[in-house]
Amino acid sequence: MNLLVIGSGGREHALCWKLRQSARVGRLWCAPGNAGIAAVAECVSLGDGHDAVIAFARAHDIALVVIGPEGPLVGGLVDALRAAGIHAFGPSAAAARLEGSKGFTKALCARANIPTAAFARFDSGDAARAYVAGHPLPVVVKADGLAAGKGVVIAHSVAEASAALDAMPGPVVIEAFLTGPEASLFVLCDGTDIAVLGSAQDYKRVGDGDTGPNTGGMGAVSPAPALTAELEARALTEIVAPTVAAMAVMGTPFVGVLFAGLMLTPTGPQLIEYNVRFGDPECEALMVRLDSDLLDLLLATCDGTLSDTRPVWRDGVSVTVVMAATGYPAAPVTGSAIARIDAAGATGATVFHAGTARRADGAVVASGGRVLAVTATGATVGEARAAAYAGVDAIDWPGGFARRDIGAGE
Ligand code: AMP
Ligand code: GLY
Repeated sequence: MNLLVIGSGGREHALCWKLRQSARVGRLWCAPGNAGIAAVAECVSLGDGHDAVIAFARAHDIALVVIGPEGPLVGGLVDALRAAGIHAFGPSAAAARLEGSKGFTKALCARANIPTAAFARFDSGDAARAYVAGHPLPVVVKADGLAAGKGVVIAHSVAEASAALDAMPGPVVIEAFLTGPEASLFVLCDGTDIAVLGSAQDYKRVGDGDTGPNTGGMGAVSPAPALTAELEARALTEIVAPTVAAMAVMGTPFVGVLFAGLMLTPTGPQLIEYNVRFGDPECEALMVRLDSDLLDLLLATCDGTLSDTRPVWRDGVSVTVVMAATGYPAAPVTGSAIARIDAAGATGATVFHAGTARRADGAVVASGGRVLAVTATGATVGEARAAAYAGVDAIDWPGGFARRDIGAGE
């Protein structure tokens, strides 16, 4: 079976790495891919339009297109592929509104009684300012659209809220501030049934001790230490199941991987946000723990047969440490050469490439903000963490940095 994976990050490298292990996968392409993905898949440049993907899928007898990032999902790539008779893993544009529109998701939560922060949505900054003036601080100011994890400001004063609103030109959502540990929960959903894929803890801030600006994610631990079996069961019953049911009733069933960003508050799990795709770097941490054939799971999701399928996991835990280019997230410096990536592999870690390219002289260079996702497993978080950092420390990259506290204290 020939497959095409869309994307170029560590998430797509982990998906291609895992799919390559399936006996049923024939040729595997990734568009556009990166220097690391090129070791397990054939990288091809198709641009952003839907037509090029459809033409490529037809020309290469692609049995399934797997879409990694949110942009093409919200933009309707799955709808276009299905209309062309091509199988695709991921939600329709209508179902991808769970990520693409915070206003949509908040309204759904209100209707289905799903626990989430109290909120209000505003088209104009002035109306939002008036609302903030009458509410207890801190408040959370969010852009109502795709913002790559950077459209959220926690404002501790009216002035901070006002500055955040100045920086967000479009519609905004203002939320009450929740407290507690966070966890990312992933479920496959075939429109009706779900299969729990597992959880991870993300490290969103750029600096050790959760300091500095938010990023796309600087590391992950899977399963999420704070998400006990009891809390996971509550999140599934109180948050995920009613969402899946509401989407089906609306005639826009969710098919794909649903990623619930949860805050484990003193009163129980609350939904911070949905994403309609695998997390990055959470996907890297999940894939090294998954024993099942990923292709079987993706096909069961698309075919509506998830009720017969249960993912099997290896014992133990995994830790992913992201190595980013100097200056990330504000202004990453790209182009620096990275040496001794193989030496990290020799320590037992798996190095997923998140933003790399191969220079004409063969050197691997940084081509994005987040560049490598060094991942390892162990019987305990401590073991997995030590193995992941052994991998990080084997890599020779003066132009990069990593947080040193991923998995510390767990
Ligand atoms: P989001 O992009 O919605 O996941 O938000 C990014 C981060 O902002 C989350 O991971 C939280 O750390 C924080 N955050 C978002 N919403 C809230 C909230 N209502 N209360 C407290 N923190 C929040
Ligand atoms: N790591 C968070 C995300 O993928 O959105």
